[in-house]
Amino acid sequence: SRWKSSQPQLDPVDRSDEEGGGDIDWDNLGFGLTPTDYMYVMRCTQEEGGFSRGELARYGNIELSPSSGVLNYGQGLFEGLKAYRRADGPGYTLFRPEENARRMQHGAGRMCMPSPSVEQFVHAVKQTVLANKRWVPPQGKGALYLRPLLIGSGAILGLAPAPEYTFMIYAAPVGTYFKEGMAAINLLVEEEIHRAMPGGTGGVKTISNYAPVLKAQMDARSKGFADVLYLDSVHKRYVEEASSCNLFVVKGGAVATPATAGTILPGVTRRSIIELARDSGYQQVEERLVSIDDLISADEVFCTGTAVGVTPVSTITYQGTRYEFRTGEDTLSKKLYTTLTSIQMGLAEDKKGWTVAV
Ligand code: COI
Repeated sequence: SRWKSSQPQLDPVDRSDEEGGGDIDWDNLGFGLTPTDYMYVMRCTQEEGGFSRGELARYGNIELSPSSGVLNYGQGLFEGLKAYRRADGPGYTLFRPEENARRMQHGAGRMCMPSPSVEQFVHAVKQTVLANKRWVPPQGKGALYLRPLLIGSGAILGLAPAPEYTFMIYAAPVGTYFKEGMAAINLLVEEEIHRAMPGGTGGVKTISNYAPVLKAQMDARSKGFADVLYLDSVHKRYVEEASSCNLFVVKGGAVATPATAGTILPGVTRRSIIELARDSGYQQVEERLVSIDDLISADEVFCTGTAVGVTPVSTITYQGTRYEFRTGEDTLSKKLYTTLTSIQMGLAEDKKGWTVAV
């Protein structure tokens, strides 16, 4: 018999707009999990054939069959996006949430799952922000990170798509992702472990892309690196991305980022940065193969992602040699960081129509 859970019950919580749920230290947020008040839950069963109306539930543990598709076969996707407290008035802004919705739809196709419509996704994100608004950090201190999940929650034994799916969103206030804060990071090129392969799932945000890279990441962290860079699994010569973010290299007046041909996660920040770099006068902004040689001979290297924002890279270690890159005020990454975050926080006019008001 199929897992059916009762409808979520809402407990009364303080939903005031007061900044500071409890005694949170807004100056030292980092990327730890601070539980918030509500999550959004929406289910989809085979009989119903799609997602019906979802609702807010008190944030907490969920009931899940031991035989659920997600637990047994990893049928799941996640997303990540941020809500910012506006600088120029009341309310909050989301950054390109439709892009996350579309990416989830694309990934759901690859993972044989139904997915919420773009409207359902964006509505759910807005509801989650409003229900947790007291957790949106003060201006300039960070953002409310939204984590949408789509999982095969139905029970199944043989390998097949699950008979029921659950879409959820939870929220947590976050600051900088890396423990280095805003400072430039050191990366290590990983030569043994690969993140993705042609025909695999590297280009979609499936949960199963992430646990397999923990080993490389943990080993590198123990040596003082913030993250690792993966090489393509065929030639072991082209740089793909880091465990948690995309990569850009700058040389002279040219900017390049690895092309997303199925093995690289098509980041929303990545796509936005490509556009902003073009707008800021760089004629040559290319999505192409980026070789190890391109990487180590670059003037400047930086990472992009929702969680990491735009993070400068100060050194990259490859085969025991450490290569250094330009960092600081007079860099493209700094300029793009400022442009991007100004749009996201409502400090600059959003000429692109990228922000969505909540
Ligand atoms: C994000 O940037 O939102 C991600 O999903 C990356 C994750 C590893 C934190």
